[in-house]
Amino acid sequence: MEKKLKELKEHISTYPDFPTPGIVFRDMFSLLRNPAAFKDLRDVMVEVTKRNIPDAQAVVGLESRGFLFGSVLAIELGIPFIPIRKPGKLPGELNSVTYQLEYGTDKFEIQKESVQPGLKVLLVDDLLATGGSLKAGCQLIEESGGEVAGCLVIMELLELRGRDKISQPVFSLLEF
Ligand code: PRP
Ligand code: HPA
Repeated sequence: MEKKLKELKEHISTYPDFPTPGIVFRDMFSLLRNPAAFKDLRDVMVEVTKRNIPDAQAVVGLESRGFLFGSVLAIELGIPFIPIRKPGKLPGELNSVTYQLEYGTDKFEIQKESVQPGLKVLLVDDLLATGGSLKAGCQLIEESGGEVAGCLVIMELLELRGRDKISQPVFSLLEF
């Protein structure tokens, strides 16, 4: 597993000063362009989840890059995939949460019917930076009656200490 993770990390491209000066952007689409690496990533996600969050009953993915990994994982685990989306995209009765961005606020929405009371959820996203998105996702799941059994992210930007904001267990595969 350690060897695989080291190889996977080498498939992540780095772009200094994107999207603004001073930001070092880690791009996971370079990994997805390599089918063998994407397959290995899938296997690692499944292994980490089975080992650490074996009781997950559904995968919730955060729009939009969280959908790529969350849906793969849901298929492999044979459990439902549930999206959390940005405002105005989901039909039906919704729950929502407003959260803080660096400048201003944003909103996440989930379909009420997708979360049964007590549903044990694995929350998936591509990247943990400040932790604002993951924290808002956890809050929305809990306010909808679900339980966050754990969070899984592909990449974690350690110096931003986003995991300090999250009270649920957070598992990350590639640390930068
Ligand atoms: C990015 C990333 C995470 C979030 C992490 O999402 O995909 O969801 O930021 O940042 P945080 O830990 O500081 O909250 P973005 O809003 O760019 O959405 P996208 O996946 O649709 O590109
Ligand atoms: N990569 C991808 N998405 C991001 C990053 C990054 O480095 N930082 C904040 N969102």
